[in-house]
Amino acid sequence: MSDGKFPESIEAVQQALAAHDYVAERGLATTIFLALRMRRPLFLEGEPGVGKTEVAKVLARMLRVPLIRLQCYEGLDVHTAVYEWNYARQLLEIRLAEASGQVDRNRLLAEIFSPDFLIARPLLQAVQQSRDGQAPVLLIDELDRSDEEFEAFLLELLSDFQISIPELGTVRAEVPPVVVITSNRTREIHDALKRRCLYYWVEYPSFEKELAIVRRRVPGLAEQLARQVVAFVQALRREDLYKPPGVAETLDWAEALLALDRSELDAATVSETLGALLKYRDDVELVQRPEVQARLLETARARGA
Ligand SMILES: Nc1ncnc2c1ncn2[C@@H]1O[C@H](COP(=O)(O)OP(=O)(O)O)[C@@H](O)[C@H]1O
Ligand SMILES: [Mg+2]
Repeated sequence: MSDGKFPESIEAVQQALAAHDYVAERGLATTIFLALRMRRPLFLEGEPGVGKTEVAKVLARMLRVPLIRLQCYEGLDVHTAVYEWNYARQLLEIRLAEASGQVDRNRLLAEIFSPDFLIARPLLQAVQQSRDGQAPVLLIDELDRSDEEFEAFLLELLSDFQISIPELGTVRAEVPPVVVITSNRTREIHDALKRRCLYYWVEYPSFEKELAIVRRRVPGLAEQLARQVVAFVQALRREDLYKPPGVAETLDWAEALLALDRSELDAATVSETLGALLKYRDDVELVQRPEVQARLLETARARGA
């Protein structure tokens, strides 16, 4: 799969992702395949830690193109996301021109509003770099954190991939970049934006999927322990937790157990290492309760056998 060539089938997508240690079920692989084929943005929604951001990173590696990332947050404005003029440099240029005593106002203005003084932020970078055969992956991460004004701007950008800079003119992408938008769903994203995209809800992984992830990412872990770890985490997610563990936590825990050279889960080991898995005191307390822990361990051992 050389530059700019997208995989030819859903299976090829699944294999290429796996080759980069990303495990995708058929539904996700299908949506990714279609997003690439139809050149439509991919919209991934789901709980934190289920592997949404990782899709963009892996796609960039798989397609051998740059990854351009825009992390969203409350108050993110168009300047930070698209472009800014380099005011400090512009001022300096004006001072220097004044000092040299020859100020041609129009020439100076043209000079300081030229591309040399422009700072391209992620969205402009993505548009500039989207040429046939070399379209980057543009990750718009955690869009639910930005405000609706920004979302409206984004909707416009996603429809034509052009950015107009009053002083310079319009910059157009030759081809659409590979866009991945993620949301942890702390608020709903507008239908209009979703309509532009191909949508996939990323679930917490099934037992088999999570086991496959652990095997790929923590290859040193004994098979039986890997099964127990995954079964434990899966059972834990069914408890009434404030913040259920994501895949990242499963992997952290697996690595911790590997570092401790454990080969089986027991009550003491669970208690000692729970901090890799749960990050809230109430959750830790719940799982430290003997009857809860015994129940979880029993489930884990049954599946790990
Ligand atoms: N399907 C998967 N295959 C391989 N690794 C995964 C998978 N899902 C999640 N991970 C790992 O779990 C961690 C969290 O994933 P991330 O993409 O940051 O989650 P999200 O963006 O949904 O919060 C990453 O380190 C990633 O490598
Ligand atoms: Mg993320």
